Amino acid sequence: MKNVVLIGFMGSGKSSVGPHLARRMNRPFIDLDAVIEADAGRSVAEIFSSEGEAGFREREARNLQRALEGTGSVIAVGGGAPMRDDNWQRIRDGNCVIALTAEPEELARRLNGSRDRPLLQAGGPSVIASLLPQRLSRYLEADVVMKTDGIGPAEVAQRRDFPSPLGGLPAALIVTDSVVGERHGGPLREALTGAGFTSQLHLVPAGEAAKELAVLAGIYEALAAAGVDRHGTLIALGGGSIGDVTGFAAATWMRGIRYFQLPTTLLAMVDSSIGGKTAINLPAGKNLAGAVHQPSAIFCDLDYLATLPRDEYRAALAEVIKAALIADRSFVEWLSAALPALLSREARSVREAATRSIGIKATVVARDPSETGERALLNYGHTVGHALERVLGFGQIRHGEAVAWGMEVAARISLLTGACPAQSLAVQHHLLDEAGLLVDRPAVPHAKLIDAMRHDKKSQSGEPRWVLLREVGRAEYGRRVEPSIVRTALAEVLPE
Ligand SMILES: NC(=O)c1ccc[n+]([C@@H]2O[C@H](COP(=O)([O-])OP(=O)(O)OC[C@H]3O[C@@H](n4cnc5c(N)ncnc54)[C@H](O)[C@@H]3O)[C@@H](O)[C@H]2O)c1
Repeated sequence: MKNVVLIGFMGSGKSSVGPHLARRMNRPFIDLDAVIEADAGRSVAEIFSSEGEAGFREREARNLQRALEGTGSVIAVGGGAPMRDDNWQRIRDGNCVIALTAEPEELARRLNGSRDRPLLQAGGPSVIASLLPQRLSRYLEADVVMKTDGIGPAEVAQRRDFPSPLGGLPAALIVTDSVVGERHGGPLREALTGAGFTSQLHLVPAGEAAKELAVLAGIYEALAAAGVDRHGTLIALGGGSIGDVTGFAAATWMRGIRYFQLPTTLLAMVDSSIGGKTAINLPAGKNLAGAVHQPSAIFCDLDYLATLPRDEYRAALAEVIKAALIADRSFVEWLSAALPALLSREARSVREAATRSIGIKATVVARDPSETGERALLNYGHTVGHALERVLGFGQIRHGEAVAWGMEVAARISLLTGACPAQSLAVQHHLLDEAGLLVDRPAVPHAKLIDAMRHDKKSQSGEPRWVLLREVGRAEYGRRVEPSIVRTALAEVLPE
């Protein structure tokens, strides 16, 4: 947490609670209005009268940005500041946001006779009735919302649901599996305790078995038992399976709480922890129940990879190769040379591959967070990949391995539809083969695979939409493909 930011309507108590909270947390207190006044050499009221509200808001945005560049302070910001989207993004970015609220009558009582509030001077007490509802919806997005009616500032600052003196958040439940939990759960808990966080470990089955309805229900029960309310936090410590089920629990517990991703597999680091897609599997299909819920932060510690089994590590290289093929020719060239070093987990190569893959995924997701368009590119290889996972039985083939075969089928289709030169297929095949991802050709009835693809989330009216390779470093999405071509490609790549 960079700073604690106090937001709320005028009169909610930010400037009076702030110094108490700062003392309690042993942090400096910054009152943004005072900073703006010092910067301008004039009072807020004078700025409003000489520069208008627009002029004041510009000054406010500038000073807010400067204040938030620092860390470790308690900062009270003006009631209107969070309403500007750019301000709000900055406020939310890594800071703990606390909203103080009070009933309109209480606000009116506190503001009665106030002469230094330009909006109140201009509009009179009715300003509260007109402005408060507009602002409240944003204030309620804060990490902690605290009603201050009838409570003095010192008492408010002592409330239990405020950050602890060491900066901790209320209660955190760490979801992990027994394999990861045994190796890495203890040190994480110790670190959290040392930093003032209260945390508990909740163990779920390892691998794809974590993404079951019963496991999700178990997480809800653990959240209830630990008393995690809507200000609480979930931490996903593990691979993509843990991240997916934990993220879904976070998206739905009390209509959404914050969560952090601590990926421990290469796949989770370069792919699944980024982008906010969360899901569980249903008998009818993979990832069928889910939500898009962004993690508050992702902590990617490559040291976790030291204990990751070789086959898990190798499987994730499919997503690394995929990212390069769909978006970055120079990354493909780098991979062609660096694959042996990457396979032997040479530290600099792992770092380079992870950084570049993360960059590609984060860029695509940032441009299309809700997957109305180009985010679909990231599904290259996944139409057949997900169908393979479903037909073989969830957990019977690693996600990355299934994606590698899916990429081989998608590439054949790209060639057969004339979308892609044969040379690009050869590059892809070489990379996947050298990574050891094309060793065991899974045998599945193609009719079953085709049926499973109809249930894929990307299908429209039961017809899959394909991501096809155009050339190395470039792909296209949303393509319909003749069923006969799909059958031919399947026959060329996978035995029945
Ligand atoms: N949400 C998304 O955007 C997204 C994207 C891609 C994949 N996924 C999902 O991710 C899942 C696959 O994730 P995964 O490949 O990370 O596998 P996983 O989470 O199933 O973990 C695989 C195994 O590795 C073990 N493990 C994890 N970290 C370890 C470590 N550091 N040391 C030792 N053992 C460790 C686990 O205990 C487990 O047995 C699939 O369910 C897939 O659908 C989601």
